[in-house]
Amino acid sequence: MGKGSGYGKVILFGEHFVVHGVPGIVSATDAKTDSEVKKTAQVITITDERKGSKGYAEEKKLQQIESIQRMLKAMGMNPQTSMSIWIGGDLPGFSGLGASAASSVAIARAISEEFGLNLPDERINEVAYEAEKAYAGNPSGIDNTAATFGGFMWFKKNTAGGPDFVERISIREPVEIVICSTGKVANTKAMVEGVAERKKQNPQKYDPMFKRAEEIAAEGKKALETGDIKKVGELMNENHTILQGIEVSSKELDLLVDIARKEGALGAKLTGGGGGGCMVALTPGKELQEKVASAMEKEGFQVLRTKVGVQKQ
Ligand code: MEV
Repeated sequence: MGKGSGYGKVILFGEHFVVHGVPGIVSATDAKTDSEVKKTAQVITITDERKGSKGYAEEKKLQQIESIQRMLKAMGMNPQTSMSIWIGGDLPGFSGLGASAASSVAIARAISEEFGLNLPDERINEVAYEAEKAYAGNPSGIDNTAATFGGFMWFKKNTAGGPDFVERISIREPVEIVICSTGKVANTKAMVEGVAERKKQNPQKYDPMFKRAEEIAAEGKKALETGDIKKVGELMNENHTILQGIEVSSKELDLLVDIARKEGALGAKLTGGGGGGCMVALTPGKELQEKVASAMEKEGFQVLRTKVGVQKQ
């Protein structure tokens, strides 16, 4: 049997803009998706035991099948190769947390082990990028890069097609965050396509927001590196405003952002593809984290208490 894992991720700055070559800042989560793969005689079977949003696995089923076929092709294997695939782990199947990329990396690693391919991490990342196309259409590569390598990073897609630019970010001390799921499964592909279409139709409105997103990422990196957490929060709030501007937020996401800010979070924004999915709030200190997280739980939402900036083990 082959085994593999992939990290989840939370984007602090730059989702959507990153698809178009604007830099983004992403942190892998401690929570991971695990996979086990066994050669079998007949067909491909998938057993998905991830916990998470109701309906996540069912809604993503077709994209998941396509992603595995893309993955096998990218590995130089027959897309019909028979095997049983199990997926589980402690990363919840919430939209926005990079669950698809985490599962692609986990499965690619497990297949590589079971079929003796010995793929290095760089190849696993490329294979997972191909698999991500099934979920995101035109992905930036930020999710699969975080899922493969883990840690905290600055990511800039190479829109000319060469290697992406990835730089590790180190912050003075890991900071508590709260991730909260709207409970709504989002279609990242439709969200990414929608932004591209509206940007093309309305450059006068979209270009200044893209320019500001680029500045926010750079200012965010500086604030993280110098430990100016208050500034990081302010920039997250501004980032949420421009995500609303490009029409990827939703009333549930805006509600969660409002609750987080009211409870004292230094900043809050949607994270990931939006249109449902998750919100992230910056809540330094266990006490503030607990206050924000429990306020959301009281409203019936599922939360994840974690940190950004934890160095990879
Ligand atoms: C999804 O986690 C992030 C998006 O920017 C898509 C991508 O970068 O591939 C919406």
